[in-house]
Amino acid sequence: MKARITKDIAAAKELLDNGRLVAIPTETVYGLAANGTNILAIKKIFEAKGRPSNNPLILHFSGLDALSPYVTTISTDAKLLAEAFWPGPLTLLLPKSNKVPDSITAGLTRVAVRIPQHPLTQELLGILDYPLAAPSANPSGYISPTRPSHVQKQLGDKIPLILDGGPCTKGLESTILGWDDNGTPTIYRKGVITAEAIEKVLHQLPHNHQSKTLEAPGMLSSHYAPRTKTVLADAIDQTIAQYKKLKIGIIRFHSTIKGDPKANVEIVLSDKGSLEEVAKNLYAAMHELDGQELDLIVIEKAPETGIGKAINDRLQRSTTIV
Ligand code: TXA
Ligand code: MG
Repeated sequence: MKARITKDIAAAKELLDNGRLVAIPTETVYGLAANGTNILAIKKIFEAKGRPSNNPLILHFSGLDALSPYVTTISTDAKLLAEAFWPGPLTLLLPKSNKVPDSITAGLTRVAVRIPQHPLTQELLGILDYPLAAPSANPSGYISPTRPSHVQKQLGDKIPLILDGGPCTKGLESTILGWDDNGTPTIYRKGVITAEAIEKVLHQLPHNHQSKTLEAPGMLSSHYAPRTKTVLADAIDQTIAQYKKLKIGIIRFHSTIKGDPKANVEIVLSDKGSLEEVAKNLYAAMHELDGQELDLIVIEKAPETGIGKAINDRLQRSTTIV
């Protein structure tokens, strides 16, 4: 059975009110949403994704008033970030109140919260009297979806409805920021809101979280991965030449010297070389090539500046580096 793809918010609300799962559009990636206060509904998220129960979920709210009861405090810094970036692609780790079920946070004391920007999901959140728990709408470990068709392909037989908000405008999962034991702002997952953008608001450059514990499994390796063997290349034309006996799919960050367009499938992410455009198009290109029975996908590394850092971070987790 396939999910219904629709813009019908009332139908989405009815399903969610009844403890069912609905895929929702956000500016980052599509989310697999359930009533974040309903323990049985939350359990369905873990089952549908094949996600380990020790990997916590983000709660999504329509605004700060709706969010406040779910945390015990919102620090001055958190307020400044909320003002600067919400609604938008930033997730904050804040101390949870007892309104948050333990299965949301996997027993941790902080809850991940976000106010997403997509108008359709904003409208939906506005008519619900609970937050939406929503991880990315992909089977655990696979590439996140940025189009309704990606969700349909991966989870369509497990959910009744996909709310159709078109292609995601940002295309990378949200930046996750929290404060460590010393009160230092810390980035747990890189995203389109960069450390430099956060520094402008806090007047302090956030650290990057280094530990490889399960605090944010999205930071561990072997995430965001296509099923086809995929390599990340610094010098892409050399890498293509090295594998020329194989059926290769190529994802270029921008158009430079062409590899071998006759023999290979090639996608250019941004003709202009815009990193925003690269981020927006990257996962769709990976989904596209992963569906083509190739021997190998070769992806060109982005420059390590601005959101290029978040792009390369995801690529390093989904590929072998050559
Ligand atoms: O852009 C996004 O954040 C998307 C959209 C749908 O909002 N959601 C998303 O969720 O990427 P998910 O579950 O795929 O990734 C959330 C990451 C996971 O790596 C999880 O371990 C981490 O956030 N996380 C969630 N709650 C946490 C917490 N309380 N402490 C530390 N890490 C947490
Ligand atoms: Mg995810």
